[in-house]
Amino acid sequence: MSRSVALGGDPAARHALLVAPSFPSFRLLDMGRGRKLEAYGDYIVDRPEEQAMGSPRLTRAEWEAADAVFDGDAEDKAGRWRLRTEPFESFPMRWNDLGFLGRFTAFRHMGVFPEQAAHWTWIEQRLKAIKGRRPRVLNLFAYTGVASLVAARAGADVTHVDASKKAIGWARENQVEAGLGDAPIRWIMDDAVKFVQREARRNSRYDMVLLDPPKFGRGPNGETWNLFDDLPAHLADCIACLSDDADSLILTAYAIRASFLALDDLARPLLEARGGHVQSGELAIPIADGRLLSTSLYTRWSRT
Ligand SMILES: C[S@@+](CC[C@H](N)C(=O)[O-])C[C@H]1O[C@@H](n2cnc3c(N)ncnc32)[C@H](O)[C@@H]1O
Repeated sequence: MSRSVALGGDPAARHALLVAPSFPSFRLLDMGRGRKLEAYGDYIVDRPEEQAMGSPRLTRAEWEAADAVFDGDAEDKAGRWRLRTEPFESFPMRWNDLGFLGRFTAFRHMGVFPEQAAHWTWIEQRLKAIKGRRPRVLNLFAYTGVASLVAARAGADVTHVDASKKAIGWARENQVEAGLGDAPIRWIMDDAVKFVQREARRNSRYDMVLLDPPKFGRGPNGETWNLFDDLPAHLADCIACLSDDADSLILTAYAIRASFLALDDLARPLLEARGGHVQSGELAIPIADGRLLSTSLYTRWSRT
C-alpha cells in the first residue's frame, strides 16, 4: 500500500506526495552526489540521478560492489553499462506476484519505473471495485506494459499503445512472464496523439485512461511529441475518450522542468468538469533510512 502525505491543508488533499512502497524485487538503497544505488531483482545497480544532491550514506565499498554501473548522464542520451557479470538480455522481477522482466537499456532505464507501484495498487483497487461490466483501460506511452498487466490481471480489457516496436516486444514478453498470455490486451504500435484522436472519432470510450508521456518523443512515423506543446490538446482528447461513467485517469510526467502545480493547473479544470476528485503531486521512492527520492509528477482523477 502506498503512503500518501498531504502537502498542505485542505481541501481534501488536493496535493499529495505518493510514496511508492518498495517491493522484494526493487529497493532504493542509497543516493548522493548525482547517483543512486538500487536493487533490481538480484542486481545492485548504480545510475546517474540529478535529484540526488545530498551525500551518500553507504560506504564507498558498498557502492563499488554494484553489479552494473551506468556511465553517461543526460536523461535522453544513450550511455554505457559496465556489468560485472556477462552481458545478458533481461532478468526476472515480481510485484505482488506479477512477474515481468527487468532490463539494462541503452538509455539507462531498467525496463520498469518502480515508483509507478504507487499507481499500480490504485489501478488494481479501482478496477476490482467496478462491478457489472468488464472495465476498458487505455494505457498510452505504455512502454513495457507493467500497468497494462496490472489492469489485465484486475479484470480489464486493455488497449496498450506505444510508438516503439521494441517496447511493444518487451511488453509482450512481460505478458508471457506474468502468465497472462490469454488476457485481453490489444498491443498497438502507434502515435498516442493520433490513436486517441481516432478513438474519439470512432466513439470508442474507456473506463480508465493512463498516460505517461516523456518530455520528447516520436511516433512510429516520425510524429514529434513535445510535452509542453502537445500535452494540453492530448489530455483534452484523452478526457473525451472517457465513458460517461468512467472511473479514473492518471497522468504522469518525468524529467520535465515543471512543478506538479503546472500539471494540476492544466488537468484540474478539465477533470473537475466531470465531477469526482482530482489529486496532484509527486511520486517518490523511499530509502530504508527515511529519505525520499522524487521521481515524477502526477495528476490523477477518480469519479468517487
Ligand atoms: C516514460 S516511458 C513510459 C513509462 C511507462 N508508463 C511505465 O510505467 O513503464 C515513455 C514511452 O513513451 C513512448 N513514446 C514516445 N513518444 C510516443 C508517441 N508519440 N506515441 C506513443 N508512444 C510514444 C516511448 O516509446 C516510451 O516507451
